Amino acid sequence: MTQRRILLIVSGGIAAYKALELVRLLKGKNIAVRAVLTDSATRFVTPLSFGVLTEDHVYGDMFDLKEEREIGHIQLSREADLIVVAPATANILARMAGGLADDLATTVLLATDKPVLVAPAMNVRMWHHKATQRNIAQLRDDGIHVMEPGVGAMACNEWGKGRLPEPAEILAEIERLLADGAASPPLLTDTTRTIVAPDLSGPTLYGRHVLVTAGPTHEPIDPVRYIANRSSGKQGYAIAAAAARAGARVTLVSGPVALPTPPGVTRIDVETAREMLAAVEAALPADVAIMVAAVADWRAADEAPQKLKKDGSGRPAPLPLAENPDILATLGQSEQRPALVIGFAAETQNIVEHAKAKRMRKHADWIVANDVSGEVMGGATNSVHIVTANGVEDWPDMPKTAVAARLVQKIADELAGR
Ligand code: CTP
Repeated sequence: MTQRRILLIVSGGIAAYKALELVRLLKGKNIAVRAVLTDSATRFVTPLSFGVLTEDHVYGDMFDLKEEREIGHIQLSREADLIVVAPATANILARMAGGLADDLATTVLLATDKPVLVAPAMNVRMWHHKATQRNIAQLRDDGIHVMEPGVGAMACNEWGKGRLPEPAEILAEIERLLADGAASPPLLTDTTRTIVAPDLSGPTLYGRHVLVTAGPTHEPIDPVRYIANRSSGKQGYAIAAAAARAGARVTLVSGPVALPTPPGVTRIDVETAREMLAAVEAALPADVAIMVAAVADWRAADEAPQKLKKDGSGRPAPLPLAENPDILATLGQSEQRPALVIGFAAETQNIVEHAKAKRMRKHADWIVANDVSGEVMGGATNSVHIVTANGVEDWPDMPKTAVAARLVQKIADELAGR
C-alpha cells in the first residue's frame, strides 16, 4: 500500500511534548509525518526534536522565502492524507473556528480540502468556557473531527477535563480516519472547483464530475494470499491528473498501487472488485466514467479464514473461483449511467475486433484498446486505439501522460459538442 502522510500541526501548550511521542508512534506504523509548529509551540518544544523524529524539515514561518519557494503552504496540505492538530489549544481552535489565517498553521488549515483531526488540550475552565464550546460546535459543524479531551490532573494543579488524549488514542483515531478513504469531510462549500489551475486553452471539464478507476484489485484467498495482476495504475492516475488539470472534480477509485494522489483528485482506496464497484456506485452521479482498473475477473469463491495448508497428496490445489461483478458493464446499464462511459481493453491479439465486441457487450460509449503483448503493464508508454460508435482512431505509441492528456481533450470536445 502507498505510504500514508500526516501533516501534524503542534500548537503551544504544556502537552506539546506529547506530540513527539505521537510522531514516534506514527513512524512505527510506517506513516510519514511532516510537522508545522506554531510560534508558541516552539516555546515548549524545539523544531530540532521534531526534525530528528520526522526526518523532515520542520515548518513554521509563513514568510520564510526559502520554505515557501521549496514547498509552499498549499503544497503542505496537498501532500498530506490527513491534517492533525495536536495539541490544539483554545487559541488555535478559536482561530480555526473564525477562519483566521494569521500564521502558517492556520493558513494551511484554511486552505485545505483534506480531513482534519484536532486533539484539544487546555485548562479545565478554558475547555468549559462558553467561547471554547461554541468554537468546538462550530468546528464539528464545519466537518472537522474533534476528539474529546481526557479527564485528570492538569499541569496547573487543577483537575478536570482538558487533558490531551493519550498519543495512542490519537494514533487509533488517525488510523480509523485513514482507513476510511471516503471520510474526507466537505470543508469547502464548492467542491466542483479544484485546487489545480485548469488549462483553459480549449474546451474544459470545469464543473464536470469525472470518475476514474485505476490499478489492480486484490482478491483474498486466505489471510496471507491474494489474486492480483501486474497493473501499476499509471495510466489511470495520469488520466485522473489530466482531468483535474482540465478543471474537473475527479473521484479516483484506486486498487492497491504505489503512486501518489495527483493534485486536486479525491482518492478512494479499495482492494477487491466488489469494494471497487461499491465505491464507484457511491461516487455517482458523474458526467464521465473512465474505467481503467485491471479488475480481477475472478475471486476465491470462499475466503479461507485460516492460512490454507498443503496436504501433500499431489492433487491439484482446491481453489474454486467465483466470477467478480463487471463494474464497467454494471455502470453501462445503470439508471445513473454517466453521459459518457469509457472502458479500457487490454488485448494481446485481434485488438480492435475484440475491443468492438467489448464496447457492445459492456454498454460503453468508447473503448480504449491497448496492446499488452509488450511492456505496457507497468511501462511508461502505451499505444492505443479508440473504438467509438463512429469508428476507430489509431494513436501512435506515446507516454501514458500524453495518452491521458489527449483522451481528456477528446472527452472535453465530446461533451462540449453535445
Ligand atoms: N472491467 C470492470 N470490471 C471487471 C472487469 C473489467 O469494470 N470485473 C473493466 C475494465 O476496467 C476495463 C474493461 O472492463 O475498462 C475491460 O476489461 P478486460 O479485462 O480487458 O475485459 P474482460 O471483460 O475481462 O474481457 P476478456 O477477459 O475477455 O478480455
